[in-house]
Amino acid sequence: MNLIPAQDNITAELFDQIADQLEDKGYIILPSLLPAELTDSLFNEVAQLNKAEFQDAGIGRDQQNQQNNFVRTDEIRWLNGETEAQAGFLEFMSTLRLELNRRLFLGLFDYECHFAHYAPGDFYKRHLDAFHGKSNRVLSTVVYLNPGWTPNDGGELLMYEQKQREHFLKVTPMYGSCVIFLSERFPHEVLKANRDRYSIAGWFRINNSIGGVVDPAR
Ligand code: OGA
Ligand code: MN
Repeated sequence: MNLIPAQDNITAELFDQIADQLEDKGYIILPSLLPAELTDSLFNEVAQLNKAEFQDAGIGRDQQNQQNNFVRTDEIRWLNGETEAQAGFLEFMSTLRLELNRRLFLGLFDYECHFAHYAPGDFYKRHLDAFHGKSNRVLSTVVYLNPGWTPNDGGELLMYEQKQREHFLKVTPMYGSCVIFLSERFPHEVLKANRDRYSIAGWFRINNSIGGVVDPAR
């Protein structure tokens, strides 16, 4: 069954491009990914959330999500599809998941994601989203929701090759842009943001329970 409408060649080409670059380089930066109205709805939603609707971001699933302000200071809210915008996003990412599986045989099983808000001064130090063999996270995605971001606003994503001290890539969190990368391969960090910085970070996962390892609750 083809999940992409036949007339939508652009979308099929986009999925081809993502799959090709993930295979070649392990990451891709897209100036835009989602339909513009969906990006706008997601931005409106996250920008209107109040403090009580976020939780402090934790580090790692198996440390009871304890807060660690040395590593990261942002706040997050998991998406569950409760609004039309969230449902639209989850549906889009589910289509992407299936299309990547068709092209790359990754066996991606599901997708989890959260809004993230970095207030001025917030950062996320260098980290990996997954450790080899320890996690079911295969692909990381970040969609940026920051209208009019300028170089003075900081908050760039730095991407590293493992064991390298210097980053090889600096990503400005431009509105509607998206980065996708192999979770186990690239350490990365978020530089201090000088203004409110919004994004949706997410992870395509494989089903580890097949191997007898039950994924801990988040
Ligand atoms: C994360 C992360 C990068 C970014 O949430 O794990 O690394 O640019 N985010 O927001
Ligand atoms: Mn990360």
